[in-house]
Amino acid sequence: MSAFRIVFISTAETADRWAQPLCEALPGDELHFDAGEVPASEVDVVLTAAPPPGALASFKRLKLIQSIWMGVETLVTDPTLPAEVPLARMIDPSMTRAMVESAAAHVLNAHLRLDDLARQQREERWKILRNPNADARTVGILGMGELGLAVAQTLRKLDFRVRGWSRGAKQIDGVESFSGEEGLPPFLSGSEILVVLLPQTEETVGMIDAKFLAHLPGGAVLINLARGGLVRDADLLAALDGGRLRHAVLDVFNLEPLPPGDRYWHHPHVTVTPHMAALTNPRTAAEFIAENLRRLRAGEPLRGLVDRKRGY
Ligand SMILES: NC(=O)c1ccc[n+]([C@@H]2O[C@H](COP(=O)([O-])OP(=O)(O)OC[C@H]3O[C@@H](n4cnc5c(N)ncnc54)[C@H](OP(=O)(O)O)[C@@H]3O)[C@@H](O)[C@H]2O)c1
Repeated sequence: MSAFRIVFISTAETADRWAQPLCEALPGDELHFDAGEVPASEVDVVLTAAPPPGALASFKRLKLIQSIWMGVETLVTDPTLPAEVPLARMIDPSMTRAMVESAAAHVLNAHLRLDDLARQQREERWKILRNPNADARTVGILGMGELGLAVAQTLRKLDFRVRGWSRGAKQIDGVESFSGEEGLPPFLSGSEILVVLLPQTEETVGMIDAKFLAHLPGGAVLINLARGGLVRDADLLAALDGGRLRHAVLDVFNLEPLPPGDRYWHHPHVTVTPHMAALTNPRTAAEFIAENLRRLRAGEPLRGLVDRKRGY
């Protein structure tokens, strides 16, 4: 089989992190980190994350656009992306494990109220907090895809009551499943700790607003590890200020990096982490890319294919 001519285009990921893992995983292919080195019409595959606006428009004969990130909202909303070319996203077990660790850490923190204990220590206050065991605590997972499902399975092993919300109805052992618009209010009303793992799409952007937050039980904790664009910040801050929500853990923001002076930085009931719940790992990501290119050559179904209309 002939070599694929591959171009790497990204404003956010750099060749120095990716060149070696990609060269090792794709020994028979031709890799370019400078798009100007080859005519666009002779490129087979583009590997990309956050490309400069319009940068993929001239790649008319591509066989595949392979995202090197799991979230593809910037690619699917780019009107200059060649329309007929398959778009695949990254699915990497190493990232999934990282997300499971992050989610489990934040859920246990919220469950055991470790932030309140740290506050008590700073105030030299000796007060026992009586927490229920995990089997009396309900965690809701918004988005039951690759990441949500893995998080749900780990939380089940820790004995939490777990419920999930997705677009389509699901049957998952030990998980109470809700779906669609009508399933959202009853799902939220029982979620004492809510983990957000939804993609950002036309339908989900801005969905975490005042109405959404009003469905959560009083004193709930929100953990957003997905995308900042899902949240209406003014509504979330109002719910935190008013005490309806006990705490929010935010890994992702409408504007990243979070600007100096943003209220989230110093809010007593907000934990800020710098978009690192599950970082891309070029070594394992390169293995996924190699497998997808093998499938492309063999005419087998690609993994992580994105439905551009649906947006994920
Ligand atoms: N913070 C980080 O470091 C980090 C790292 C990696 C990824 N992420 C984010 O995590 C997101 C989720 O990743 P994933 O791999 O789990 O995605 P995925 O496998 O595509 O799963 C998406 C889930 O969301 C559900 N969903 C989508 N739109 C919906 C809607 N309108 N109504 C109800 N449910 C809807 C889907 O329902 P169906 O199952 O019915 O289709 C599915 O269960 C990514 O898009 C990315 O933005 C963040």
